[in-house]
Amino acid sequence: MCGIVAAVTTGGNVIPDVLHGLRTLEYRGYDSAGIAAPAEDSLHLRRQVGKISALEQELANNALPDTPTAVAHTRWATHGPPATRNAHPHMDDEKKIVLVHNGIIENYAELRADLQERGHQFFSDTDTEVLVNLIAWHQKNGKEELHDAVRAALKEVHGAYAIVVLSAKTPDLLIVARMDSPLVVGLSEEGSFAASDMPALLHLTRDFLVLENGETAVLRPKNVELFNAEGVRIERTAIRCDWTPEQAEKGGYPHFMLKEIEEQPDVLARTAFDRCHDLTGDVHFEKEFGFTDATIQSIQRIRFMAMGTSLHSALLGQQMVAELSAVPGETLNASEFLYSPNLEEGQTLTVILSQSGETADSLRAMREVQKRGGQVLGICNVMGSTLAREADHLILTHCGPEVGVASTKAFFGQLTALYLLAIRFGRAREKLSKEQGQELIHDLRALRPKLDVLFSSEAAERIQKAADFLAQVSSCLFLGRGFHFPLALEGALKLKEISYIHAEGYPAGEMKHGPIALISEDFPVVAIATPGRTYEKMISNMEEVRARAGKVVAIGVAGDQRIANQADYFLAVPEVPELLSPLVNIIPLQQLAYQVALKLGRDIDQPRNLAKSVTVE
Ligand code: M6R
Repeated sequence: MCGIVAAVTTGGNVIPDVLHGLRTLEYRGYDSAGIAAPAEDSLHLRRQVGKISALEQELANNALPDTPTAVAHTRWATHGPPATRNAHPHMDDEKKIVLVHNGIIENYAELRADLQERGHQFFSDTDTEVLVNLIAWHQKNGKEELHDAVRAALKEVHGAYAIVVLSAKTPDLLIVARMDSPLVVGLSEEGSFAASDMPALLHLTRDFLVLENGETAVLRPKNVELFNAEGVRIERTAIRCDWTPEQAEKGGYPHFMLKEIEEQPDVLARTAFDRCHDLTGDVHFEKEFGFTDATIQSIQRIRFMAMGTSLHSALLGQQMVAELSAVPGETLNASEFLYSPNLEEGQTLTVILSQSGETADSLRAMREVQKRGGQVLGICNVMGSTLAREADHLILTHCGPEVGVASTKAFFGQLTALYLLAIRFGRAREKLSKEQGQELIHDLRALRPKLDVLFSSEAAERIQKAADFLAQVSSCLFLGRGFHFPLALEGALKLKEISYIHAEGYPAGEMKHGPIALISEDFPVVAIATPGRTYEKMISNMEEVRARAGKVVAIGVAGDQRIANQADYFLAVPEVPELLSPLVNIIPLQQLAYQVALKLGRDIDQPRNLAKSVTVE
């Protein structure tokens, strides 16, 4: 939530580069945007309500002076509605210091009242304006160095923050700090940079320092100094990001979501193929995975936790791992874990899934597990993210940056990683023979070419017809059983978040226990009905829907006449082993949501009220 980009460089005008980074971060918030730059002992500010294009228009009309230093922000409102006065950057009341912030200052009301008593004035509804005034107060009261003033102010603050601070007096210096909100520092010959994530700076550098909680850094054009929570100078080796700038661009597609849906066959290859060993019928993860056969054997139970789309992967992961390795498991919404009884962790492993690795609810759950003495395996797409750094064990999903707010390829990458995890656990626990492992790996490799048909023009035509129909309804139900129940949840989430059509996912067996009352000519069902142990029962459910005049959009394998006969709209998929069917069936569900949203003219990559990375609880 909220995106930060800042730069302090050796010369020239850095504004185009900063705006480029800000556009990459627009997925984090898009209700207002702003940029500040120093010039001749003062600070210049431009802010606009709306997307970054509105800020660019403002800059076209009312240019900032060329500058080698700038801080910029795109906002997802927490305190106060989208309005120019609430847009970042915020300045202190004497307009000497400027600050951009991601997070929430919990005690801002008390701090604001104190500062008002000391004569400070406020012009916005935000917690951020309180922090910048607090820094200014400390600078005037004994902490002349900006870094010292920032550190003193942060000692008074409770909450989450990633901040960048710039003073008119020291235009070639930025102070950055973080606590529970993501922030990376980019390093190059041309300057030093800060941003909420790495893709925002890939056009400038691929070398990064990731700040830990409580740390601060002093950025100058030619060097960066890092300090721990006690203010002691520390050294850290930079990490090199293997993402390319092109991966963070639309590359000719109308939307990131469409690009990311189409990248899924490559995600399969990148996440899985190098880790699969055909000879041994086993999976070899990198050293960060950190489990031996013996430690895997000692695990008695697995708890999967995540939020949103990642939670749906978690539900599938629980089933896959149980199927191949017979380890019992449960899946919990990470935000609910805090309220669960503090039972002994024993030999329970917790798996936390997160595309971003920065989801506040999931991180909170991870830390709570660790506090209770448990071990966490993180499955994550972003190297250097908080989950990737703090989890005890790690699998990276290698999807490349996911920019569309609606998660697609990250879900696919997570399912791929979970399939590999299930094989590894099955082999280590001797529930799978070498030959069975080889067959599972063979099935996975064979999946990639089979996915092509889902991107054919024939498939697109079928999706379009179903989407034209669904775009006319106001509500619908997604049904699936077994492996397809989490897909029903995910299909419904995709549709509602980008088309704003109300949709719910249900286990098909539950339909007769209530939701069937909704079925009518205007209330359709999307049924996931590919072959497997749930097939016959899904056919019965579809018959029940049609008997009540409900329309059915069905996902079934190509040529399956029984399903086609029950469906008003039939979305054909290739036949694959049941365990892999979620990786196939999810694609038409994503395409359907995309086409419905397109038909309705929705803002597909940045749907209303949502932010890609939910960094507040
Ligand atoms: O980054 P994470 O995977 O932890 O994000 C979790 C959810 O916020 C995310 O999946 C969200 O539900 C997406 N908008 C779904 O498309």
